[in-house]
Amino acid sequence: MGSNKKEIDKRRTFGIISHPDAGKTTLTEKLLYFAGAIQQAGEVKARKAERYAKSDWMAIEKERGISVTTSVMKFNYSDYEINLLDTPGHQDFSEDTYRVLTAVDSALMVIDSAKGVEPQTEKLMAVCRMRNTPIITFINKLDREGLVPLDILGDIENKLQVECTPLSWPIGMGKRFKGVYNLYKQELCLFQPGRNGNSQAGILVSDLADPRLDELLGSQADELRADIELLRAAAAPFEREQFLKGNQTPVFFGSAINTFGVQELLDALVEMAPPPGPRATATREVSPYEEAFSGFTFKIQANMNPAHRDRIAFVRICSGKFTRGMKAVHHRTGKDMTFANATIFMANERENVAEAYPGDIIGIHNHGTIKIGDTFSEKEPLKFCGIPSFAPEFFKKVILKNPLKMKHLQKGLTQLAEEGVVQVFKPFHINSYILGAVGILQFDITMERLKSEYGVDAVYQSIEYNVARWVECADTKKMADFERKNGNNMAWDSEGSRAFLTTSEWQLGYCMEQWPEIVFRKTREFNEA
Ligand code: G4P
Repeated sequence: MGSNKKEIDKRRTFGIISHPDAGKTTLTEKLLYFAGAIQQAGEVKARKAERYAKSDWMAIEKERGISVTTSVMKFNYSDYEINLLDTPGHQDFSEDTYRVLTAVDSALMVIDSAKGVEPQTEKLMAVCRMRNTPIITFINKLDREGLVPLDILGDIENKLQVECTPLSWPIGMGKRFKGVYNLYKQELCLFQPGRNGNSQAGILVSDLADPRLDELLGSQADELRADIELLRAAAAPFEREQFLKGNQTPVFFGSAINTFGVQELLDALVEMAPPPGPRATATREVSPYEEAFSGFTFKIQANMNPAHRDRIAFVRICSGKFTRGMKAVHHRTGKDMTFANATIFMANERENVAEAYPGDIIGIHNHGTIKIGDTFSEKEPLKFCGIPSFAPEFFKKVILKNPLKMKHLQKGLTQLAEEGVVQVFKPFHINSYILGAVGILQFDITMERLKSEYGVDAVYQSIEYNVARWVECADTKKMADFERKNGNNMAWDSEGSRAFLTTSEWQLGYCMEQWPEIVFRKTREFNEA
């Protein structure tokens, strides 16, 4: 056991979470630039633009100037191998966004210093909470006037229920922004606007009483001293254990666009964030150090090229070693699958991967055989837990314009549901399809793809549902009773599980009171049916 230990321990797999416009793309770019993975700033944005141009059904992305798809990027930094998973930053949420977070070992949260915690960050953080994902926080845009740093920390603690422990502290902001004091290294980093790419040399100032501080910062030296004194009394000291449990977040300040505080952040990330850890399966916990290969699919992406119907399944490796040409059992089908061809997504190119280790994400081309939540394992069959489907919050009924296209519609919806693009419900008593989504943009994407990939011309009709829950009961007679009484609100989901759809949380609450034996679930595991 453990021949892959060296490789595993140097891997860091993390996702970036933020509200749109907080600076996620800019920061990603600067991280890649620092690591030498891209040659010039602007490549990530340029790549996004190029992707728009290449993909047809992604017209929506282009139109709205947002990124719908999730990218995976791998790069090296010092002795570490980093896998960075981008979560789409648009306002409209999709389940994809949530599921990406099931494949990471830690997350980097970017907050705009002028805005504090924004709604999307709250939602994403709620997902991180489900798995106690450790979070590192970067407060961005200190070159602009923003909120008082202590207020931002208070906001994070209140809204996100995580204790903040600042490891750097800003000296002024906006026009008065002088830099940060790194509490961790007891080092002063001076801000020089517009610097691109070079690391900011730190000046060692272990004693804050050092008169050099006054020379360098003028009147702001005393402000810094007062702030640090306050922090020492008020802020909790960094405890790695608490961070790893997701109870505490180390906080850094900087300005991504000015490449300030970025290297410090990257250094903290590789030093503090955990390497791939054990993962729960339905039968036992799997250690990354086990020799046998295992992994799970957290995302399916249809090929950008509409001429080819193939799809890429994104698989997170959980144990063992992946080698090109190896065989593993596809747990859901029970069949052996040969991985003749897997892709690894480097920052600036896609490479055919020869070997990969736990923490790495590989892309496997397939024609629809792989679904979200599918597990691959070399030894015993395993089913990884915690790849959730979330109860949709928005609903629409699909009305087919040309009834002869029913078969195409069925096929399209089945495949889009398997990809996790949208959830599909078939009411018990009506012969139609109801679509459910976590973010309304999912509806536009579904319609666009139904049309371009399956030749289906359909429209949406509003429907009065606003709430859905998966329902189950150990007592089959009770379940049958419930179904009889609530038949008009019952539907099958695409995997054959029973769902209860209703108009409001109030109605749901009322129904739950009436039927205490029935379990109403807000999430369900993919492929558990
Ligand atoms: P996102 O991916 O989180 O949506 O954010 P993105 O990086 O695209 O940044 C959003 C806006 O914030 C961009 O401005 C970007 O230049 C700006 N920004 C990022 N980091 C900083 C920072 O440290 N300080 C300041 N002052 N601004 C920052 P934009 O005008 O929307 O786009 P662009 O024209 O600059 O590309």
